[in-house]
Amino acid sequence: MRKPIIAGNWKMHMTVDEAKAFVQEVDGLVPSADQVDTVICAPFTHLSTLTELVQERPIAIGAQNMYFEEQGAFTGEISPVMLSSLGVTYVILGHSERRQYFNETDELVNAKAKAAHQHKLIPIICVGENLEEREKDETKEVVQKQLIGALQGLSSAEASASVIAYEPVWAIGTGKSSTAEDAGDVISFIRSIVEDQYDQQVASAVRIQYGGSVKPENIAEYMAHPDIDGALVGGASLKPTSFLQLLEGRS
Ligand code: G3P
Repeated sequence: MRKPIIAGNWKMHMTVDEAKAFVQEVDGLVPSADQVDTVICAPFTHLSTLTELVQERPIAIGAQNMYFEEQGAFTGEISPVMLSSLGVTYVILGHSERRQYFNETDELVNAKAKAAHQHKLIPIICVGENLEEREKDETKEVVQKQLIGALQGLSSAEASASVIAYEPVWAIGTGKSSTAEDAGDVISFIRSIVEDQYDQQVASAVRIQYGGSVKPENIAEYMAHPDIDGALVGGASLKPTSFLQLLEGRS
């Protein structure tokens, strides 16, 4: 049985003081870590404060991106060494917004996924089609290419420990979420790709989230699907009350 994982992707929102207030407001109300992995993926500027604040609390802290080199002349970038030295444990890679606005390729996502595992960071690897690709019925082709590209060269253990997030781009921030049935169909397909690339054991172990306008009102539908292990949530993760409702809605 895979443990559910609910991750909030704060994107470019909240000040550090607002992040502190957020953690104080949810303090004592987050389910225990043996029931669900609760992750907050915050801006880089918040990470050291948050990792300090959540010690002894059932909340893990993630980054929203990173570079794959350990150090060097890469102005503006953050290395996996820096993240793991702060106690960060997850990192979102290949988010559609980074692919769209910053031209991230499958090869770059793959280099980052390898570096994440080398530095004991759990990658949340994002895949998903845009509206045009969906309307041309290219969803599975797109997702397969992104996933195989991202997983290239990862060991069975690394793939098993990774998290994959299926986020149809047309559902992100739009309020138009995929139906649980459609999301489940693509996520089952993703799991079948993992089995082809590795084996049934890895396919059973890897956790796959849905992301794209997940709200407290609809999370239970996704979580009821046997192949969906959690959610990667943007807007609805920004308020303590709705984040707690998402966590309650996981079961
Ligand atoms: O990474 C999660 C994010 O892309 C989903 O955003 O606002 O549709 O929940 P949202």
